[in-house]
Amino acid sequence: MFRRKSIITILAASMVLSGGAVYAQTNGAPNGQSATAFDNKIIKKISADNMYNNIALLSEQPREAGTEGEVRAVKYIEGQFKSLGFETKVLPFPIYDYRTNHVWVKIGGADITGTAPRAFSGSVSGKVTKQLVNVGKAKPEEIGDEVKGKIALVERGDITFIEKVQNVLNRGAVGVLMYNNSSNGNAFGQAQEGQNIPAVAITQTQGLELVGKLKSGPVEVTLDVDIEKIEKTSYVVEAKLKPNKNKDTGQIVTVGAHHDSVRGGPGANDDASGVSAVLELARIFAKAPIDTEVRFLTFGSEERGLVGSSFYASQLPKSDVNRMVAHFQMDMIGGRDAGADNPAGGLIMYTIDGKKNLVTDLGAAAGLRTMDVAIPYGQLGRSDHQPFHELGIPSALFIHSPVEPWYHQPTDTLDKISKEKLQQAAEIVGSSVYQIARPDTPALENARVAPGTVDYDFEDRPVD
Ligand code: BES
Ligand code: ZN
Repeated sequence: MFRRKSIITILAASMVLSGGAVYAQTNGAPNGQSATAFDNKIIKKISADNMYNNIALLSEQPREAGTEGEVRAVKYIEGQFKSLGFETKVLPFPIYDYRTNHVWVKIGGADITGTAPRAFSGSVSGKVTKQLVNVGKAKPEEIGDEVKGKIALVERGDITFIEKVQNVLNRGAVGVLMYNNSSNGNAFGQAQEGQNIPAVAITQTQGLELVGKLKSGPVEVTLDVDIEKIEKTSYVVEAKLKPNKNKDTGQIVTVGAHHDSVRGGPGANDDASGVSAVLELARIFAKAPIDTEVRFLTFGSEERGLVGSSFYASQLPKSDVNRMVAHFQMDMIGGRDAGADNPAGGLIMYTIDGKKNLVTDLGAAAGLRTMDVAIPYGQLGRSDHQPFHELGIPSALFIHSPVEPWYHQPTDTLDKISKEKLQQAAEIVGSSVYQIARPDTPALENARVAPGTVDYDFEDRPVD
């Protein structure tokens, strides 16, 4: 982790976006600033009670992706957007679960003794009975033509699992039996899409015994792997708020949270809190004058590796991506004890590259106006701002860090939610979004707020 501590001065008035728009950001001296009439259009209307009630509803049961719990949450969120008059879409996408039915290894017809063998994650199913060939660590120079049509015995180490599987596959092997290079069990191994041979992990003891056996003659091995691939469906909910046609900058701002939770977790803070703020801001923006499209998004399968937001990013037409100027992600913004005793209740803005951007600039300035604190920024992925960043869209994650000990636990429940934290985070994101979407920008000279400068710091704070 690199550490950078610097005070960055932004001349807000000189921020130029891809679309050429310039935004007024704050109103004068860094200290003692207060919310403007424009902020008040949004923040005066934010109701922490509304957010709290939505968290209560959403956290009644776990919302693990691909389960009934997710469907229930998606229907509720969609219903809320629809009742606000939004153009709403529920976008389904497939997710996959794998169930291992059996992994058998037979040596000369008899089951291997000792620890039960394990399939690599990503291994295909298959049954092969062939001679075993020792290929060392499966570096290209170690593998001869004799492995063609045989099962490769491989030692773990030096190069990646995927490289090893690929190297023997390139020489025509029909199976991989890999043994550990330490006495650390057999919970290892990874294969990737397209590597269509069964790959099985065994312990070091089991492997070395086979190496010995091979020295005194051929060994016939059976690999029998039965893994079931189960397709499920997860969702992204999208609600679009379009500006008036004759006052449209053509730009798009997105505001997101993830609606899924971990298995068995109510996910009150992670991330019903973010969803509740997305819904609350949607309710308020629906009645605010805007000149920029605002898209409210909730993602499924974040907890599986940002699958919903990656899907959403992948299906965006290029013409949309080119118009997208900022993504605000809210994930874990209500934790009563999160943030320890850092200022602003520990609220921080994380970017993927650790650099400030339009989103953090606006967030820091909004923090000064609404809480009299310049919200710091830091470097972290781990949420749905990542795929937006990869599309080149200025993005940040708003979160209180360090997070609480009940992160991803069944105890991430409503009673740990602070209305005050919800209110503050929603105010900061809401007024930031409104700086872009309000109709008097980019005509700075007509804006009633004067441009100013904002200082905010990089912080390398522990997150959990
Ligand atoms: N809300 C968390 C991200 C998080 C947790 C950020 C703790 C900072 C501190 C998110 O839902 C999550 O758990 N993400 C996963 C990563 C994801 C790619 C599966 C994580 O952090 O393990
Ligand atoms: Zn989360």
